Amino acid sequence: MSTLVIVGSQWGDEGKGKVTDYLAQQADVVVRSQGGNNAGHTIYFDGQKYALRSIPSGIFNPNIKNVMANGMVIDPKQMLEELHGLMERGIKDYQLFISNRAHIVLPYHKELDGAYESLKKDNKIGTTKRGIGPAYADKANRIGIRMGEFIHPEIFKLKLKNALELKNMELKMLGLEELEFETIYKEYSSYALELKKYVCDTSLLLEEELEKNSKILFEGAQGVMLCLDHGTYPYVTSSSPTGASVPLNCGVAPRHITDVLGICKAYTTRVGEGPFPTELSGDLAHYIREKGHEYGTVTQRPRRVGYLDCVALNYARRVSGINHLALMLFDVLSGIDSIKICYAYELDGKKIQTIPATNQEYSEVVPLYIEMPGWTEDISNVTSFEELPLNAQNYIRKIEELTKTKVSLFSVGPDRKQTIQMEELF
Ligand code: IMP
Repeated sequence: MSTLVIVGSQWGDEGKGKVTDYLAQQADVVVRSQGGNNAGHTIYFDGQKYALRSIPSGIFNPNIKNVMANGMVIDPKQMLEELHGLMERGIKDYQLFISNRAHIVLPYHKELDGAYESLKKDNKIGTTKRGIGPAYADKANRIGIRMGEFIHPEIFKLKLKNALELKNMELKMLGLEELEFETIYKEYSSYALELKKYVCDTSLLLEEELEKNSKILFEGAQGVMLCLDHGTYPYVTSSSPTGASVPLNCGVAPRHITDVLGICKAYTTRVGEGPFPTELSGDLAHYIREKGHEYGTVTQRPRRVGYLDCVALNYARRVSGINHLALMLFDVLSGIDSIKICYAYELDGKKIQTIPATNQEYSEVVPLYIEMPGWTEDISNVTSFEELPLNAQNYIRKIEELTKTKVSLFSVGPDRKQTIQMEELF
């Protein structure tokens, strides 16, 4: 089989961009399957740093086809800014294909995202305010606008008129200013004109690539714990970042999805609200946050940090079909005397090994830990598992034992070169 799904196995920001960029060098096609510019995929190579938001992480390789699939919600304005930014930095030779079934994010989605967050007060989700939730809600409400419609001026005009009528009622009801049709239409028509050349039926393109036995990398955004169905609802995003969602989000048959690489940090982070059983505070949290540069790529918010949670990891493995793990930011743990890994929770005096369905219960679980000796050596230059200090090797082995999943790759720094792949993945 020549496909591999990259899935975030925690609450997002695990380093999916880095792994996708690394593995893209072995691939023919890279597909972003869901989400939008709420994602921030950071990539370092040749001394340069790139922060991608909507564009697939294979964009740096001229030989790779980059697909933005039907499961995405795409902000045309932001996406073009991202593309222009890449071009200004010399990334001009790329192959990009946007699904004609992907939905677009419009100004009213962003307005409504912010408005609902403010109205929710203490119950706010902590969204990225990029209009992602409202855009997916319009998709489900069947008043969304798809790329294939957006690039046809007359269809876009009609669809926007109809949608805006409803959206202005909503904005008015929330005490916000109504938006003008002409202003949006004029501005967004120019984006449509520029994007038109990339829009096509990407499901057909993927079928052709599968028939040729091309190597296809499916790049997920966010993480399983932020999944609309299986995450810590309602503190989740509005799409499903699981392996199971890939066929639907990309228009490929489920039988093509057999291998799922779960990306996890050597510890845990979370941005936004919601329960986080292994969350740390104090000096250790500060140490990890600063060393791991744990600040949001999209919003710059400081990330909440905690010990590695193997209950959450096992849950992600189960609901997402993860059969390989990539352990990221491993170098960040150097210099910590003693490291804990959560292997189970206690709820109402009972040991449990899964995520309770309600946040009420989830906020009451007590993590149970295994404690392991840490290591002091800097590991950012190691090139093999054998070069790691014994305690670091033991940390990896313990994760494999607790998750019954092989760690196939680990990362000891932000650069492409600081990636150690221990087995062939696809
Ligand atoms: P939304 O996706 O902007 O609606 O935000 C919903 C929740 O998902 C919030 O807690 C966000 O912080 C979180 N979220 C969305 N995208 C990402 C991501 O790429 N990394 C980490 N958290 C994310």
